[in-house]
Amino acid sequence: MTDHILIERPETAPYVQVIRFNRPEKKNAFTRAMYQTMTDALRAANEASDIRVTVFLGSEGCFSAGNDMADFLAFAMSGTMGREVLDFLGALATAKKPVVSGVDGLAIGIGATIHLHCDLTIASDRSLFKTPFVDLALVPEAASSLIAPRLMGHQRAFALLALGEGFSAAEAKDAGLIWKVTTPEALEAETLSLAATLATKPPEALRIARDLMRGSTEDVLARIDEEARHFAAQLKSAEARAAFEAFMKR
Ligand code: COA
Repeated sequence: MTDHILIERPETAPYVQVIRFNRPEKKNAFTRAMYQTMTDALRAANEASDIRVTVFLGSEGCFSAGNDMADFLAFAMSGTMGREVLDFLGALATAKKPVVSGVDGLAIGIGATIHLHCDLTIASDRSLFKTPFVDLALVPEAASSLIAPRLMGHQRAFALLALGEGFSAAEAKDAGLIWKVTTPEALEAETLSLAATLATKPPEALRIARDLMRGSTEDVLARIDEEARHFAAQLKSAEARAAFEAFMKR
């Protein structure tokens, strides 16, 4: 458990579980403990009859700056990645109930690719989606190398995942990464209201509809593993270590 992740049950949104990132002083960068807590919450939702929808929310002006850079550096030094990230990605890709996300501000690295696994995402008009994997001498993760080209076409996916181009909320919507754009002030209320509406739907019909639309997760899980093998190898490279050290020394 870590208090950098808050698990909330909003009174205004019955049957909704909120996973809220609560590390604003580090731009909600995800540590191993945060991944573990999120995995536990996703797995709990699969079994809990009083949870029908899970929502990811960040803090004001920042969804998440992605994986914690100090953890990246520690992985690079130790040569092992830890299982928390992969457990989280597996739990996210195989979540049995709808997942909604609300983004206000920065959505970097896994803070951007997480939405490829969400069913509905609303973002404020000041949001920025960016994945500087290659600039950090890393490779795309979360099966983004599979899902993003399918979703938005090779060129846009390449601009996002390889060029490291930042996408505005409008561009992310145009690319199909998110569903809707709103104001920062309205973001949280709209996201919770959307989740609450989903939670009023007949759960079994919703489950079947979602499963039909998502199809098999086999290729997604295989790609998560394939990417992870390259990611782990790159983490140990001199070029990646230099990039993490440069960030830490800023
Ligand atoms: N891991 C660890 N700490 C992070 C972080 C990350 N991914 N992103 C930001 N932080 C920390 C900063 O080190 C800083 O900590 P400090 O106050 O103790 O020095 C704090 O969060 C605020 O960040 P700062 O860089 O000062 O804010 P900013 O508004 O100028 O820039 C970002 C915000 C997100 C653009 C910038 O911090 C950044 O590029 N972060 C790295 C993002 C990244 O590459 N993630 C990995 C993707 S694969």
